[in-house]
Amino acid sequence: MSDSISSLRDRVKDRSALLGVIGLGYVGLPAACMFASAGFRVHGVDIDAGRAELIDSGRSPIEGDEPGLAELLEQVVASHRLSAGSVHTDLADADVVLICVDTPVDADHRPRFKALRAACSQLGSVLKDGALVIVESTIAPGTIDNVVRPALEDSSGRHAGVGFHLGHCPERVMPGKLLRNMRTMSRVCGGSSAEVADVMVALYSTFVEGDLDAADCLTAELVKTAENAYRDVGIAFANQLALICERVGGDAWLVRQLVNKVPGRDVLLPGGGVGGHCIPKDSWLLAAPLGEEAEDSLLAVARRINDSMPAHVAELVGDLVGRGKQGRVAVLGYAYLENSDDTRNSPSAETIRLLSERGFDVAVHDPFVSEHKGDVMEVLRNADCAVLMVAHRAYRDLDLKRAADVMRKRALVDARGFFGVEALRQAGFDYRFIGVGSTAATYEEAPGPK
Ligand SMILES: NC(=O)c1ccc[n+]([C@@H]2O[C@H](COP(=O)([O-])OP(=O)(O)OC[C@H]3O[C@@H](n4cnc5c(N)ncnc54)[C@H](O)[C@@H]3O)[C@@H](O)[C@H]2O)c1
Repeated sequence: MSDSISSLRDRVKDRSALLGVIGLGYVGLPAACMFASAGFRVHGVDIDAGRAELIDSGRSPIEGDEPGLAELLEQVVASHRLSAGSVHTDLADADVVLICVDTPVDADHRPRFKALRAACSQLGSVLKDGALVIVESTIAPGTIDNVVRPALEDSSGRHAGVGFHLGHCPERVMPGKLLRNMRTMSRVCGGSSAEVADVMVALYSTFVEGDLDAADCLTAELVKTAENAYRDVGIAFANQLALICERVGGDAWLVRQLVNKVPGRDVLLPGGGVGGHCIPKDSWLLAAPLGEEAEDSLLAVARRINDSMPAHVAELVGDLVGRGKQGRVAVLGYAYLENSDDTRNSPSAETIRLLSERGFDVAVHDPFVSEHKGDVMEVLRNADCAVLMVAHRAYRDLDLKRAADVMRKRALVDARGFFGVEALRQAGFDYRFIGVGSTAATYEEAPGPK
């Protein structure tokens, strides 16, 4: 084992290694907090100076429901284990640097990795000799070798494996469960050599309770993108089945329940679209090595089905309000995920855009998103149709009878199967669920969405 790796392993084990984190978003902030609470001294850098300043003062910029995060942040900042700023040169002493920047795809579905390339060259210019750079961001297969390694080598003037070490440990968190996921989920520790992977296992074992599987960087890249693409394809299947059920007057919720009685079958739930920073782009990241053929892949077809769901929700609203008629629509939920403030690639945003395009006056409510907080009844007032887009816990307490009273027309599209059929009926709503044909033979009796 090289001297630098063996001394790094010792410093990881006795927690004297200094850690840097580049990008303090949904992944970088909780990761920085977890390593700080495991006993490391951590410095985080984010190009958003306001965000870094807030974090440095011990306050979390994440407004969604994140159990334990605000408290942990306050604690690790107060104990001087975590600091934050917006200057990359402050990472000059770091022994290990985690890169947690955003990795979107462009409009042509190709990753350009602008933030990742920038982070690598900003870091490379100050990178300490023998440091370990771990990319936590999700990246296309081959990115460590084709993008990260050359960017760091060019900016640092050193060679990977000699002047610095490289690893890829993709994150598996979901907003709403950031700390819990980080602590309990298993992780793939892809290293540029077996020794590097071994140090990574030692590092993450300071707080991860799940399995830590040592691997190479390419395997880690493939595993992460595959797990998200698998989910996207699974959701696309559920949505495709739902659209077929609607076409023939069936009930996808009942069909799903009965199909899932067969061992090994696990049809997912249909819905109004797939959002967030990750799932909508990770299929494209996995498909990226296919080049132009990516557009003909199974992954691309699944993407198109899931991307078409907001338009389908807008269709269902049109059905309920009456063809060619316009009016006011109240959209409940703007985040892409329940109980989160994360609005990236929100299917609600696309649904709202399409409804507005059809001439509807759209009002929006979301208990977690600053610009849409407020009294839900005021958003529903005089609406000709409501659309439940996000299964936020807060909507469990929604008084459907009162909602029906303040609305101009008692019509509701439930894009998540959130409200019970019985509750909607009792409140006098005319309603549509994704996947339930309005003429379904079983419509009156079917279990339907609960
Ligand atoms: N959000 C999730 O639930 C989740 C889960 C698993 C994996 N991931 C992956 O983790 C990565 C980060 O996702 P996220 O949700 O935390 O993104 P994010 O947008 O919340 O955070 C990224 C942060 O990086 C900062 N940044 C960008 N370029 C920078 C630079 N050069 N230097 C310093 N800071 C910079 C941005 O200002 C931002 O605050 C992505 O690859 C994503 O796919 C995200």
